[in-house]
Amino acid sequence: MYRDKWCNEVGELDIGCTIRLAGWVFRRRDHGGLIFVDLRDRSGVIQIVFSPDFSPEPHKVAHSLRAEFVISIKGEVRRRPPGTENPNLLTGNVEVYVNELNILNESQPLPFAIEDAAEASESLRFKYRYLDLRRPDLQHNLFLRHKVVKVTRDYFDERGFFEIETPMLTKSTPEGARDFLVPSRLNPGTFYALPQSPQLFKQILMMSGLDRYFQVVKCFRDEDLRADRQPEFTQIDVEMSFVDSLSVMQTIEELLKRIFKEVFDISINIPFERLSYNESLERFGNDKPDTRFGLELKSINDIAKDCSFKVFLDALEEGGSVKALNGKGLASLSRKEIDNLTLEAQSYGAKGLAWIKIKNGFESPITKFFPSQTLKKIAEKLQAEEGDLLMFVADKEKVVNDVLSKMRLDLGRKLNLIKNSFNFLWITDFPLLEWDEEEGRFNAMHHPFTSPADEDIDILFSSDKYDISTPTSKLSKIKAKAYDIVLNGHEIGGGSIRIHKKDVQKKVFEVLGISEEEANTKFGFLIDALQYGAPPHGGIALGLDRLVMLLVGASTIRDVIAFPKTQKAFCLLSGAPSSVSPKQLRELNIKLETKVL
Ligand code: AMO
Ligand code: AMP
Repeated sequence: MYRDKWCNEVGELDIGCTIRLAGWVFRRRDHGGLIFVDLRDRSGVIQIVFSPDFSPEPHKVAHSLRAEFVISIKGEVRRRPPGTENPNLLTGNVEVYVNELNILNESQPLPFAIEDAAEASESLRFKYRYLDLRRPDLQHNLFLRHKVVKVTRDYFDERGFFEIETPMLTKSTPEGARDFLVPSRLNPGTFYALPQSPQLFKQILMMSGLDRYFQVVKCFRDEDLRADRQPEFTQIDVEMSFVDSLSVMQTIEELLKRIFKEVFDISINIPFERLSYNESLERFGNDKPDTRFGLELKSINDIAKDCSFKVFLDALEEGGSVKALNGKGLASLSRKEIDNLTLEAQSYGAKGLAWIKIKNGFESPITKFFPSQTLKKIAEKLQAEEGDLLMFVADKEKVVNDVLSKMRLDLGRKLNLIKNSFNFLWITDFPLLEWDEEEGRFNAMHHPFTSPADEDIDILFSSDKYDISTPTSKLSKIKAKAYDIVLNGHEIGGGSIRIHKKDVQKKVFEVLGISEEEANTKFGFLIDALQYGAPPHGGIALGLDRLVMLLVGASTIRDVIAFPKTQKAFCLLSGAPSSVSPKQLRELNIKLETKVL
């Protein structure tokens, strides 16, 4: 027995008692006579006191205590003398006078102080992740993550869902990223893929009659990493039989409501707002809008056609678009500051940024290209007032949306427009297909098993009449029974009702340009299963890391993952990925073309 209690459980009720505690030396203050140590464990910190008068032996040893020594102590709980209480500590009214000290382990001087770890470089923190993880805030994040998972499991259990594990060594699932491959020793020259998601298996589980499935599951995607992307991440993965979109969405709304209430004591309102994909692009420029603030994008295509500004006219001529943002109160920006905004727009892919200040009329180098009526119409559309700065980007629609959606977020932050709240949003009515410029063909917007909307099935089945090799083909109009869930500008989940009829699935492969042979090689088992009584089914997956990141107010998912990887997908703690021995390669029948450094 090392301890009777956790550090932060010691309180005024214990005054006069003798207790044992164990933990790490957080801080040590040597006041000549008295030595104060902040003792830390997972629960928190308590002050322990070594006094030569109270107990001379431990006091002598206490001189040798250094940061992060592991100790256990026995001592008497006392009220702190008036004026020395620490209101920042839960245990701040008491302290423990030590009469027994055991040094359980020593520590080398640390590469960074635990207290200052947040300021240490990420590479140092990740190399010494066990020290980094001693930070109370990171431990708290992991505690909350655990709670979210616990509530999730309870919730699904109560509703008759089974948590069923699916294979990690499997075949490629088409979620749009590159696969991580694992060579098979027993079958030379062949590879497993780590799952990008359990998509195919959860559908098979529905075809197996399991009816309600969920899983807290690791997924693997070899893609470029960002603050909210890791090569391995966790999904709360769900699949249900005999449901429509609404039932899946309601199931998730109620889950989130419960997580927020039980883990964070925050009440959220359901149902969440909904926005169609097209409207989202129109108003915010992307399909994961942060709706905590306005600053919406406004198209001025119909007005811009009446100007003589070549930049705008050329864009319209080429089928592009002109959209604008109204920077409220930004007319006071200097020329240099506006030049910086232009550079910012260019860094996001724009050719330039046109602007008009509303300052005793219209002030801009481009007003000469606009009849005064046109300027008035633009001002009206953008609800411009004295002191505003109107910013315009003209280009292909996609470029305009990309640039302005990013500038909208930057301006929202700069102008402090973003409220501290949780804004959930469903994005619905996605197109089934997405044009792939490089390949010159359609891809599935979600994945190829997503069901088309009932009203568009006819278009799909008359696909022979339409050109599958032009982006404007009528096929591009087919909507999907798909939905994404967005929280404060992050996509925290996505799902769909699936195709459960073989003929529909075949047709979708056809318009995706996937040959029967290719479909059979890649997902033959799913297509086979569709012929033996597949029920209607659908589901969703939530990104657990992203959800927890937003809940705890972290700015990267790396702060809610115990052992995250760096931007270059390295695990600095373990040193993975690393080279392997020639023997291992021989066993796997693998020869390396390039020498590993
Ligand atoms: P999707 O690909 O949209 O859907 O993934 C679901 C959610 O997982 C999260 N996510 C990630 N989180 C961290 N790092 C990543 N690299 C990463 N990639 C995705 C996102 C995303 O919304 N099988 C389908 C679900 C379904 O149709 O049921 C799927 O995986 O929050
Ligand atoms: P220019 O005619 O290239 O000197 O550009 C005149 C103004 O229009 C400058 O402020 C440019 O930043 C801006 N501009 C140039 N290209 C675009 C574009 N595609 N969209 C919006 N503004 C642009």
